[in-house]
Amino acid sequence: MRRTDKYAVFGNPIAHSKSPRIHALFAASLNQHIDYQKRLAPIGNFAGELQRFFDEGGVGANVTVPFKRDAFALARSASLRAQQAGAANFLMWRDDHWFCDNTDGAGLVRDIETNLHTSLKDKNVLLLGAGGAARGVIGPLFLRSPRQIVVVNRTFERATELVSPYKNEFAARALSVDALVAESMKFDVVINATSSSLTGLLPVPENAHIFAPDALAYDMMYGKQPTIFMNWASAQGAVGVADGLGMLVEQAAESYVQWRGELPHAAPIIAQLRAELARE
Ligand code: ATR
Repeated sequence: MRRTDKYAVFGNPIAHSKSPRIHALFAASLNQHIDYQKRLAPIGNFAGELQRFFDEGGVGANVTVPFKRDAFALARSASLRAQQAGAANFLMWRDDHWFCDNTDGAGLVRDIETNLHTSLKDKNVLLLGAGGAARGVIGPLFLRSPRQIVVVNRTFERATELVSPYKNEFAARALSVDALVAESMKFDVVINATSSSLTGLLPVPENAHIFAPDALAYDMMYGKQPTIFMNWASAQGAVGVADGLGMLVEQAAESYVQWRGELPHAAPIIAQLRAELARE
């Protein structure tokens, strides 16, 4: 028997996941009831754990590291943005198969444009990183009509690969770290999609001057304290500085609306999670 309220987030590890809390807050804010669990899937057997969940009546799932590519491969139909990313963080049972989507990019865009009041239209955007996180957001960023998106990555070849599907249709350009420093280009929005903050490192040399006046610096990572990238960006003159907590909540809202037909209002829930994070 399919239950219309049974959802879960899959990952490995998964104990740290805030998704159950976020979705519980969404449901409470909309006077709905949902059952949303954490599921630890074994590395190499995401499909088996998803099947078990399905057998228990599950109808929708979020998927996090390291299973986003597995989720995409397993789904029989996929949104365009999941196809662009080659990865999915969202699954929904449709009639007789899993449909997948990638809501990370839409979550990032909504956090930047709605919560941080920064339009991307006609802006010079710098995307740092060319891994899974960057791949998940570049398509939705282009849909907001920036003037250009420059991708810089430690391994230059990966940046070239990332921009290549977009080059004909959009102003997309890959640049090496050295060229970024040498050209002293300035950007209105700088997004750190690398994992460098996890190890306390900056994704670009400390002496890079990359911020235009009024620039927003956005780190897709988040934590109790500002990340090293956020502190550096403030010192370099970025006016707006944000971490990825808002993106986390907004990508979840993009999931919730597809499963349940109502878009939760994310701003108060971001504020609540921020307060809870400070107490951890
Ligand atoms: P994710 O799914 O989080 O994007 P990933 O696919 O392993 O994980 O990609 C990690 C990204 O962070 C890559 O862009 C990586 O650069 P490389 O392609 O050169 O490996 C980047 N990265 C990680 N540590 C970094 C550091 N210390 N400095 C700069 N970039 C870093």
